[in-house]
Amino acid sequence: MDKYRGIGVFDSGLGGLTVASAITKILPNEKIYYFGDTANVPYGNKSEGQIVKYVLDIIEFLKAKEIKALVMACNTSSAVVLPRLNGNVKAPVLGVIEFASRMALDESANEVIGVVANPVTVGSGAYVRTIKGISMNGTIIHQQACPRWVPLIEAGIFDGEEVEKVVREDIEPLLERNIDTLILGCTHYPYFAPVIRRIAGDGLKIINPADSLAYQLKKILSDSQKLSDMENPEHEFYVSGNAEDFRINGSRFLGKEIKTVHKVTL
Ligand code: DGL
Repeated sequence: MDKYRGIGVFDSGLGGLTVASAITKILPNEKIYYFGDTANVPYGNKSEGQIVKYVLDIIEFLKAKEIKALVMACNTSSAVVLPRLNGNVKAPVLGVIEFASRMALDESANEVIGVVANPVTVGSGAYVRTIKGISMNGTIIHQQACPRWVPLIEAGIFDGEEVEKVVREDIEPLLERNIDTLILGCTHYPYFAPVIRRIAGDGLKIINPADSLAYQLKKILSDSQKLSDMENPEHEFYVSGNAEDFRINGSRFLGKEIKTVHKVTL
């Protein structure tokens, strides 16, 4: 039955587990097939051509699982590959950029929005295009590429002197330009949210699209009568790199123990 099919979620690595975690909370009866492209992370230093190839291979892998929806948890993929999918996936496909953009516009009072993301997402201009496409008010967007953040987070370093220094150097130029809202334009960055909050203070609105995406997914499944009622679905985890590393670090990212991780070569 269609409603018992799983949801495909993928990311370049561990970071997409922030989105998977939101889905498990808001849709606890849905089975997730998660793919982390850990052999190729970070996508932030790859060419657009390489990223398109990686992502199309991942999508074929997840399609073979007969998924009923596909979540591109990865901002870079949402920026670079989603616009080029051309109906390649029959199931609904959700990317993170539109959700984050809408949330930021809802939250911002002064219409000056900052975006932190990796260099590919920043260079693609996807956030600027999307926000300007939705906003009626001449919203100003300031972007900052943060290539040093993902390697720290993938290494499980979420705070401390080095993190504080790197985050401060990257967000201060945005704060000086009077942003009142900051989009975390990368799946990994929610792990730095407490550090950002410490540096920026309580006034800054910090946008993580994971929950909003999970609610929209719930609506799509409910409208098409595909909501699952499965008790304790067994999620499946696949990676292109080291399975044991992902099992250990991923359990921390997901907030619950991952028992088995399969390594696959695409
Ligand atoms: N998953 C990527 C994203 O959300 C960040 C990590 C990377 O650069 O691969 O953009």
